Amino acid sequence: MKALITGVTGFVGQHLASYLLMNGYYVLGTSRHNANNEQFIEGIELVNIDFDNTADIVKVLDTVQPDFIYHLAGQSSVKDSWVDKEGTFQSNVNLTLRLLEAVVSSSVKDTVKILTVGSSEEYGGIDANSEPIPESTQLKPTSPYGISKATVGMLVRHYYMAYGLKVVHVRPFNHIGPGQRMGFVVSDFSNQIVEIERGDRDRVISVGNLSAQRDFTDVRDIVRAYYLLLSQEVEMCWGESVNVCSGEATPVQSILDILLSLCSVSIEVKVDQNKFRPIDVPLFIGDNTKLKSLTDWEPLYNLEQTLNDVIENLRNQ
Ligand code: GDD
Repeated sequence: MKALITGVTGFVGQHLASYLLMNGYYVLGTSRHNANNEQFIEGIELVNIDFDNTADIVKVLDTVQPDFIYHLAGQSSVKDSWVDKEGTFQSNVNLTLRLLEAVVSSSVKDTVKILTVGSSEEYGGIDANSEPIPESTQLKPTSPYGISKATVGMLVRHYYMAYGLKVVHVRPFNHIGPGQRMGFVVSDFSNQIVEIERGDRDRVISVGNLSAQRDFTDVRDIVRAYYLLLSQEVEMCWGESVNVCSGEATPVQSILDILLSLCSVSIEVKVDQNKFRPIDVPLFIGDNTKLKSLTDWEPLYNLEQTLNDVIENLRNQ
């Protein structure tokens, strides 16, 4: 089996590539970064695609002939989307549009199976009584990022309805694990803790909104769900969205408490109002019934294990 992963050098891309390689796939990947500067996985063939040029994408698809496309490339930070709205739409919406348009014009149109990545942020301002959130919930995204991902979901439906593309749109809730770059709650907290342990900064951790509650899943469980969704004959979900989540909410305060308990030095917590967002959804819990009915997916990592792996990974760098 041949898989093409866009954004292969990103956090999720690297974990997915490792998992697919382990399952005997031939893995090709695109990256906007120079792979030599990245911590990179052996055994992946990097391909250059000019995503500004639909004809170039078609050419690559015709040459590579992938069985699966995992479209992971995009702008993944909710926080950054408030600052760079246009860039977020460019990376998330326009790039997906060009890729799907290219597939329609390519020789793999009728065979390739595609997965696009959305987000729980698509649901946005949900009434707490409606949680856990099933896919049928009306989308009310409140961040520029959430709006961009909801648009991607609509494109997926359009390309399935209009052209019959075998494409599924996943809505992962918060995913965490070793290798996540700074800018997300677990990586931001963990990096500061390890720097304090090393004596590289004062014993004060700077945090944002601790009252938000999120549905956290280990990235290694997330990529297994992606693999299962495309590898099994799940014909009924083309054009649809599928939540990928644990079904449990954890307050950000608890994440902080667990991380601090893994650290040997005592640390003062300082709340920084600059880290708050104009709108921050107070609670997200996903309903994973659909994913579990389509596949035999179950999360294998618990939160403590994941947070411990994150900290250990940083300590060993
Ligand atoms: N990043 C960050 N840094 N967030 C903090 C901090 C901090 O120091 N302190 C508190 N938070 C709070 C945020 O305000 C938010 O309520 C929560 O922690 C989670 O923030 P992030 O980890 O940045 O994740 P996110 O929910 O905005 O987005 C992530 O999850 C989405 C799915 O729900 C990303 O992984 C997205 O790509 C993904 O789609």
